[in-house]
Amino acid sequence: MKKIPPSAITPEEVYLGRRRLMAGMAGLGAAGALGLLPAPAAANAAPLAAAPWPGSLTGVEPTPELSAISYNNFYELGTRKESPRDNAGLYEAKPWTVRVDGAVAKPGEYGLEDLLGLAALEERIYRLRCVEAWSMVIPWIGYPLARLIEKVEPLGDAKYVAFETFNPEELFPNAANRSLPWPYREGLRLDEASHDLTLLAFGMYGKEMLNQNGAPVRIVVPWKYGYKSIKAIVRISFVEEEPRTSWNMSQPSEYGFYSNVNPEVDHPRWSQASERLIGDSFFPMFNGYADEVAGMYAGMDLRINH
Ligand code: MTE
Repeated sequence: MKKIPPSAITPEEVYLGRRRLMAGMAGLGAAGALGLLPAPAAANAAPLAAAPWPGSLTGVEPTPELSAISYNNFYELGTRKESPRDNAGLYEAKPWTVRVDGAVAKPGEYGLEDLLGLAALEERIYRLRCVEAWSMVIPWIGYPLARLIEKVEPLGDAKYVAFETFNPEELFPNAANRSLPWPYREGLRLDEASHDLTLLAFGMYGKEMLNQNGAPVRIVVPWKYGYKSIKAIVRISFVEEEPRTSWNMSQPSEYGFYSNVNPEVDHPRWSQASERLIGDSFFPMFNGYADEVAGMYAGMDLRINH
């Protein structure tokens, strides 16, 4: 059980964003009544049952669901915080298949239903810390990615796991933007990907994931900055070399491969230790998960490839 100060829950930006959202929704309601805008993608997803996970954060209220589904980073759907919610209808999350390939004994196309049936779903309350210095506390639903990794049986050459999202230039060319090199790519070392905290997530707040949060399936890696938690995954490859990642390809001087939450290594353009942006001084090493994960980086200089 992890305790964090309640004051650490939801930063000012989110409250401000939420206030903006409420104001925006009022406007949207009026415009919607005039038939000018589609209804916002509300939290009307199907319920998804899951057993509570004993390691969840305690002593904190989760971030209000409305904030977590309205203040998002999902650049395929646009770069403003409300774009993913507003453009959630650009893709269909069902049916869905994930291609598993590379150095595994059992490569193949895994349908969403196959994946959902692979292991018991758990509700895990984790902190999500974006590199932009805001954080949320989110009740995710999923199971450890390790369950899928075991099933596909990595071979000796599998040292890293690479992930890809759909390519927006193929899926909705008219609305695609060039904010990042597509498809969005992320990667983990095999031991990181197999760590019990690394979640293959299908839902949040007791329901199936909404598109703006990465439906139908994403990962959540709570000791790393949020951009490692890649959404709407279509491909998982087991590879020998450290895979390229979108933010590193886009701005190599700012985003390394590891991206562990680390208050001692600043972003080149802003402090990662300061209370200024998150409105609270609670910002621990590995986002509070040091006991579980620090051992994987023993002896490494965490300033390199951060
Ligand atoms: N995955 C894809 N495919 N595209 C993205 O732009 N943004 C990342 C990550 N996963 C992103 C992505 C970033 S920067 C963050 S902080 C988290 O998603 C945000 O997740 P949330 O919107 O569910 O809070």
